[in-house]
Amino acid sequence: MGMIRLALPILVGAALCGGGRSTLSHAESGSAAWLRYAALDERIAQNYASLPATTVMLGDGEVLRTARQELIQGIRGMLGRTLDAPRGLPTESAIVLGTLPDLERVKPDLPPPENLTADGYWLTHAEIHGFACLVITGFTARGVLYGVFAWLSKIARNQSVDGLNEVQHPYAPLRWVNQWDNLDGSIERGYAGPSIFFDHGKVRADLTRAGQYARLLASVGINGCTVNNVNADPRILAADFIPQLARIADEFRPWGVRLSVSVDLSAPKAIGGLDTFDPLDPRVADWWNRKVEELYGQIPDLGGFVVKADSEGRAGPARYGRTPADAANVMARALRAHGGFVFYRAFVYNHHLDWQNLKNDRAKAAYDTFHPLDGKFDDNVIIQIKYGPIDFQVREPVSPLLGGLRRTNEAIELEITQEYTGQQKHLCFLIPMWKDMLDFDLDVEQPKSPVKDLVAGKVFHRPAGGFVGVANVGMEANWLGNPLAMANLYGFGRLSWDPNLSPEAIVDEWTRLTFGNDSLVLRTIDQMQLVSWRAYESYTGPLGVGSLTNILGSHYGPGPESSERNGWGQWHRADHAGIGMDRTLATGTAFIGQYAPAVEKLYEPLAACPDDLLLFFHHVSYSHALHLGKTVIQYMYDAHYQGAEQAQEYVSQWRLLKGHVDDERYQEILVRLQYQAGHAIVWRDAICNWLYRLSGIPDQQARVGHHPHRIEAEDAQLQGYVAFDVVPWEGASNGKGVQCPAPVQTCAAIFRFREKAGRYQIGVQYFDLESGASRFSVYVNNQRVDEWLADDHRATSKADGDSSTRRWIPGLALHPGDEIVIRGVPDQGEPAPLDYIEFRPE
Ligand code: GCU
Repeated sequence: MGMIRLALPILVGAALCGGGRSTLSHAESGSAAWLRYAALDERIAQNYASLPATTVMLGDGEVLRTARQELIQGIRGMLGRTLDAPRGLPTESAIVLGTLPDLERVKPDLPPPENLTADGYWLTHAEIHGFACLVITGFTARGVLYGVFAWLSKIARNQSVDGLNEVQHPYAPLRWVNQWDNLDGSIERGYAGPSIFFDHGKVRADLTRAGQYARLLASVGINGCTVNNVNADPRILAADFIPQLARIADEFRPWGVRLSVSVDLSAPKAIGGLDTFDPLDPRVADWWNRKVEELYGQIPDLGGFVVKADSEGRAGPARYGRTPADAANVMARALRAHGGFVFYRAFVYNHHLDWQNLKNDRAKAAYDTFHPLDGKFDDNVIIQIKYGPIDFQVREPVSPLLGGLRRTNEAIELEITQEYTGQQKHLCFLIPMWKDMLDFDLDVEQPKSPVKDLVAGKVFHRPAGGFVGVANVGMEANWLGNPLAMANLYGFGRLSWDPNLSPEAIVDEWTRLTFGNDSLVLRTIDQMQLVSWRAYESYTGPLGVGSLTNILGSHYGPGPESSERNGWGQWHRADHAGIGMDRTLATGTAFIGQYAPAVEKLYEPLAACPDDLLLFFHHVSYSHALHLGKTVIQYMYDAHYQGAEQAQEYVSQWRLLKGHVDDERYQEILVRLQYQAGHAIVWRDAICNWLYRLSGIPDQQARVGHHPHRIEAEDAQLQGYVAFDVVPWEGASNGKGVQCPAPVQTCAAIFRFREKAGRYQIGVQYFDLESGASRFSVYVNNQRVDEWLADDHRATSKADGDSSTRRWIPGLALHPGDEIVIRGVPDQGEPAPLDYIEFRPE
């Protein structure tokens, strides 16, 4: 985004910042995330004055020592005191840390609560060795560590810790994140810089960030992390790579996080010297056994493997006519003795489907492949199932496969990295969506079978199962590229621990820990986060149509036609008459038949199907009336306008927080929100124009296609600039932009202001391409009012809906006839492209 703000001689007032509160002095990079342990103000700190001054550790071990260290660090940060940590039993009132077996030795008359399970913790009080102590305990050291984090979190949120007697335990045994990091250091669908693990084909020399990441994960109860892309490089298992992986595992271990790796099923052939990877070939089984031995020799607590096979071009058992169960079990048998798991991904589908066959449906693939194999997988195999049947869309129904496995372990795969949901450039708090999914009753067993209970193994009494989140943090200081996006990582951990928590409770915890306990900050950020998923859905893909993004490339900006006329199967089937995929039993693909009868009844009849998923299940005419009363087309228009309007409001809401949060994060987030406000308009216009062109039905409010305050760049007086067609057309206003062609070095577009005199902000819509940093400067009546570089790097080399970006120039006093000139200076092949300018009264 722009770099240079110049003094604005014709600014009529600096309307940029909110009231006159003093600015918080210290700046924060976001790297501490929700573990800031910021100093409490003195009045609040008084509430903790009676806490013990020492901590005593019963027993020993790496994780326990981490717990003690964290406790000391937290208390020091928040209360400015350094706990003493003497050896031996308490000699004064103390905070006692230890596992239950160790506690029992010194305090045999303290019966553990019945409901305490592995990884759970108990915060309580007891007299030990004659002294009143606060006790943080669990069956395992990991439980103690989780207890310490939970206890510190209470203090950070200014809660009372007096007289605590609290037992907490995780909902499911497996709570893992996946990182899609490549060995060259890039990250597939990562939006926050390069990998914290890999660089140039090797594990990084400095793994400080890996350890810090494990700490963040542990603080929300996550106990496993797969470090490399599911599109796995077979070299991850090479003999010279394993010692490198062991170094990452060493960073994770103190935090109770197990390392695991994604493996390529063809590894026995690709790196093992065999001429086959047929899972039923004894030489292949032998190869996996030996490889697993080698791994555990160096990483004794390895979590296991994640497998993507027969999917999107990956090698798989289908090559040999074998099943996913054959493939999973050959690895699972090697891993079993070591306590390792195979997470076999259910994301298996044919991406060369015949799009002309209206009965074809990618959504059916996972269930069709895995349901018939139920009961054939070993007990240390987990089928890892994306939440919806397509692919991480902003709205999908729950995958029916989650209810289709009774004798097989399963885990739900959620996507923390915002691939289809705004790539951390847009605010989109995903917890409300995940929560809806986890609570959804698939009705496959009585009395109830919500997804959270299915994946936790509670419904069919499975030995393993849980939650997997694709996280993709990177080297950027704030981990995900946007401090606000960290609420999704935090929330993933919290929901995996306790899916009965509400989104409101989760976001409130997160905001307090991340930004402090100021009531304005809490109200504002909680509210922004809580509305953000629906807002994003409104301007990118309402009514269950799926994200209308460019599915063939970035998965970011608008590109509704990219879904159609190809084999990827993300079809919305929009044409002149109607829109939506008919997945009914009666006339469609019969996908709905994969659900239990009660769920089928909810989706099959048009009259019953909820509006939010209408177009996922039904093909309807644009004039079909929703339950809400509006027609589909009018709802689409309205949703896009309302969603984009919400995005504009974030900016003014955020401005209220100036001085209430540190300047560094304030500014960083403001820039993101301003960008989002502009890009939401790009989305709104692209989809509304596209729908209008398809349907021919005008917007009842006459907004679509009418932009009275806009002047197209191609209609300006151009000096050097030439008009060009933007492809696809809906990515630009009027389908056209202007660009400054080589070898011209400076171009200008001259606009004439023809509205009422007043104070305005000008929105300059330009395209910021991957390459180059074109320079734009804006003059009003020959006075320069703004200048910036188009130096943000979006993954697009084209002027389109991905790269379209808005620059707001506020506080301009304009009069009819004023001349506005935009000068563009191309850079390294980026031709300073412009789309339009727009005036907004202030
Ligand atoms: C999505 C994503 C891919 C990824 C795939 C997967 O399709 O765009 O980058 O490899 O999911 O989950 O395997």
